[in-house]
Amino acid sequence: IPKKIKNICCIGAGYVGGPTMAVIAQKCPEIKVTVVDINEQRIAAWNDKILDNLPIYEPGLSEVVKEARGRNLFFSTDVDKAIVEAEMVFISVNTPTKTYGVGKGMAADLKYVELCARQIAKVSTSDKIVVEKSTLPVRTAQSIKTILDAEGKDIQFKVLSNPEFLAEGTAIEDLHHADRVLIGGDQDVDGLKAIQCLVEIYAHWLTKERILTTNVWSSELSKLTANAFLAQRVSSINAISALCEHTGANVDEIANAIGADSRIGSKFLKASVGFGGSCFQKDILNLVYIARSYGLEEVADYWNQVIILNDYQKRRFAETVVNTLFNTISGKKIAVLGWAFKKDTNDTRESAAIYVADYLLNEQAELMVYDPKVKPEQIYADLDYLNTRSEEENRRLLTVVTNPYEAMDDAHAVTILTEWDEFKNYDWKKVYRGMKKPAFVFDGRNVLENELLKSIGFLTFNLGRS
Ligand code: UDX
Ligand code: UDX
Ligand code: ADP
Repeated sequence: IPKKIKNICCIGAGYVGGPTMAVIAQKCPEIKVTVVDINEQRIAAWNDKILDNLPIYEPGLSEVVKEARGRNLFFSTDVDKAIVEAEMVFISVNTPTKTYGVGKGMAADLKYVELCARQIAKVSTSDKIVVEKSTLPVRTAQSIKTILDAEGKDIQFKVLSNPEFLAEGTAIEDLHHADRVLIGGDQDVDGLKAIQCLVEIYAHWLTKERILTTNVWSSELSKLTANAFLAQRVSSINAISALCEHTGANVDEIANAIGADSRIGSKFLKASVGFGGSCFQKDILNLVYIARSYGLEEVADYWNQVIILNDYQKRRFAETVVNTLFNTISGKKIAVLGWAFKKDTNDTRESAAIYVADYLLNEQAELMVYDPKVKPEQIYADLDYLNTRSEEENRRLLTVVTNPYEAMDDAHAVTILTEWDEFKNYDWKKVYRGMKKPAFVFDGRNVLENELLKSIGFLTFNLGRS
């Protein structure tokens, strides 16, 4: 087991690997951190002199990169070299839900993780601590270990689980002020030494109470459990929002009232058009798959219901738009404000907007999409990926604009699908003047000032209000 970590390699320069390594490099100037990726374009973007061109957008990220890049933070496509040099290798590659074979649509696809493990096994010439950072099903560490040891080299590999809890849009803040860091490892002498090496790194900026250590399995399962609990809260409040719309209760008032109970807590109780992001659905599907594989049907069904409710919420919102617009939206122009799965990120993975837009397009609406950070290519790619209709048709029915007023001009309705702050500050009087009457606003995030909109003349729909 290496005594001191001088070189870190991170395989995968994505949403997790990029910001995490940037902060480790910032806080540990004596450690050389090399982030590698097979995607040349992505590495070039990380190395771009213009910091606005970094491949991902996170508040505060460019400042951290500016401070550390070229000093002890490097981005490269030379994967082998970085592995050989490092005493510690992080695996931060993507683990999408499988789209084929056994566990299709449910289990995590581990092929990228396995390829990394094989590559590490092949090129390593010295002992290494291998850290799994990607979200993985329970017991993956064991598979990684088996692959690493299969080369039969006279070197020692220790596998740690160090799940990432950062949320997008607040990644840098979450890394700088983490509630906790979790490190799982074997509870034998070498395992504990390896854990200690990683503890030392985080201890550069976090107090020891915030660095929790467990066995590998607890660490792996904690990650899935944390995301399942968070998603479950959103589905729970969204379930109540449907009930509110029929009873005259107001979901935001309810969230406020129950959140005041310290046993419940106030966070993550915002009703929405549905949760998205790369983690929640994937991790729950994973949990469901694992539970089923052990014959725990009731456990699997319990967590699966969180997904069912989320799909229902997205569909319910889209149905409301159609029903309210007199049961037909064919040929009607509808503005879609927000495409990212939440504000302050350009990430669109599993965004509710994709599914709502798909539904509205099936009803032959003409969509005008505006998002402050998401590029047009991404929006079209997200829709094309669903395979609901031809690429030509997607481009014919949906237009991406860079000016929100252009999206809303002459529209029958405006839908708010992401809670971007700037939406609140638009000149809604001007918007109203430009729209077809009656002018509808469907606020899928409850961010706009409802009273103001009504006083202007809009007909408004809010989630969880009758
Ligand atoms: C509950 C609510 O807490 C209270 O606000 C409401 O007014 C009435 O219902 P009570 O039924 O007295 O109060 O007990 P509570 O402490 O909430 O426990 C309910 C059950 O959950 C108990 O059987 C308890 O053992 C169990 N429980 C509670 C757990 O199994 N695990 C926990 O972490 C907490
Ligand atoms: C999540 C976890 O928070 C993070 O700890 C983990 O490492 C990765 O997954 P992220 O997907 O970036 O992070 O976003 P998060 O802020 O958790 O939001 C997920 C989704 O839930 C978003 O679509 C968001 O809009 C939605 N949400 C969140 C709600 O609809 N209501 C809420 O109250 C909170
Ligand atoms: P996450 O949200 O988990 O960070 P991303 O998709 O943003 O996921 O990033 C994962 C990155 O891992 C991608 O840039 C991808 O090119 C990279 N990657 C996947 N497999 C390998 C591999 N075998 N070697 C190097 N990089 C890889």
